[in-house]
Amino acid sequence: MLDRETLGVFSEIARKLDDGFARLPAFQNQSPEMARLAEVLGATAERLRDNYPYFHPLYAGQMLKPPHPVARLAYALAMWINPNNHALDGGRATSAMEKEAVEEIAGMYGWTNFLGHLCGGGTMANLEALWVAGQLRPGKKILFSEQAHYTHQRISGVLQLPFETVPCDARGRMDANSLATRVERGDVGTVVATIGTTATGSVDPLPEVLALRDKHGFRVHADAAYGGYFALADDLQEEAERALARIGEADSIVIDPHKHGLQPYGCGCVLFRDPEVGRLYKHDSPYTYFSSAELHLGEISLECSRPGAAAAALWATQRLLPLKKGGEFARGLERGRKAARALFEKLRADARFVTAFAPELDIVVFAPKAASVSEASVLSRKIFEAAAKRDLHVAVAELPIHFWEANLGAMKGDRETLTCLRSVLMKPEHFDWIARIWDLLSLSADEILRARN
Ligand SMILES: Cc1ncc(COP(=O)(O)O)c(C=O)c1O
Repeated sequence: MLDRETLGVFSEIARKLDDGFARLPAFQNQSPEMARLAEVLGATAERLRDNYPYFHPLYAGQMLKPPHPVARLAYALAMWINPNNHALDGGRATSAMEKEAVEEIAGMYGWTNFLGHLCGGGTMANLEALWVAGQLRPGKKILFSEQAHYTHQRISGVLQLPFETVPCDARGRMDANSLATRVERGDVGTVVATIGTTATGSVDPLPEVLALRDKHGFRVHADAAYGGYFALADDLQEEAERALARIGEADSIVIDPHKHGLQPYGCGCVLFRDPEVGRLYKHDSPYTYFSSAELHLGEISLECSRPGAAAAALWATQRLLPLKKGGEFARGLERGRKAARALFEKLRADARFVTAFAPELDIVVFAPKAASVSEASVLSRKIFEAAAKRDLHVAVAELPIHFWEANLGAMKGDRETLTCLRSVLMKPEHFDWIARIWDLLSLSADEILRARN
């Protein structure tokens, strides 16, 4: 798990940081006794062993991707200063790094004049986007798909914004016809297009949503928390590619560096196309802003204290792996897609399994074939557990049976939803491990399906 070489570099680099403050008079800081420190950290390591191996390619379950070594080290380095990006007074260097890093993210969508910042994650970022949307379209409905992240429903509740859900098509995308019918009835303030749903990585039909906006004038918010970075990938299916190419036409965008951007948790990002929305954040604070007349990040974000270390980690990662089509970072995303397609093809060709639809990004959903949907649901859970015993970790999801519409065959549709297996293949290494993943999955399925007969 540990990359000892990068750990070795750390003390040298930390000394470089220390040198920057060498002119200050020496003082005694609160260092605990080393033996006690080692004992407590040993106990901490023991406790941390009680985790799934998220960093390993055999962890192919939920959306969990290890931070890049450079992100870990830059974060740890910044922790020695512990800057607070709430205001320039608290995090001068890291505020500048945040602005540069966010500019590069916005650049993926062709934005140069925009408003944006980092925040705690996708929930916080979407909260800000909907908070702004609610102020600009007071009393109007927020629409999102049935497969949108549950956070949208919750956020609308917190903000007391009226909302409605739009049905999904058989590929888990917002159904464009249902949306068109709904917006005709009026009263719609904002449509949230999910670019990469949490369950299946489906991409909502953004071009159709944008065409409806032209006619009806609602706001469009792109929740690209999961899929936003795929704008850099070269190997998307045509429809997903068309949607990702037009994210920059949304009014606001959420993208999570702590999902596909190789960052530790606590790193989301919200962007607004119109920098004027900054006025909505206006507040008076007699105590925080005194060192600069510039607009501080704290004046354009809902959160106050925020880790400058997150900005340092993101800045360092993007310096090493620029957000460029055809670059190393983009190649990593494409490898995840290749892994997902390879697993999907193996499942599709295998009589023991039933697949839903080809992955639009890097998430595959599938189930064991059975006499009925309820039997397949029970078997899915058993295969999930049998695989975990072999150290292969996939996930379980509850999805509408119409996602399997074309492939259910003789399987009796005795339930509205199917408990299925889900695999998020988001690590570049997954592609090299697909044969091993398949073997373990196949063995686990054999064990369970044989026991049934
Ligand atoms: C599409 C989407 N939006 C929002 C979120 C919420 O993000 P977070 O967990 O970072 O708060 C998620 C999380 O999986 C997501 O997939």
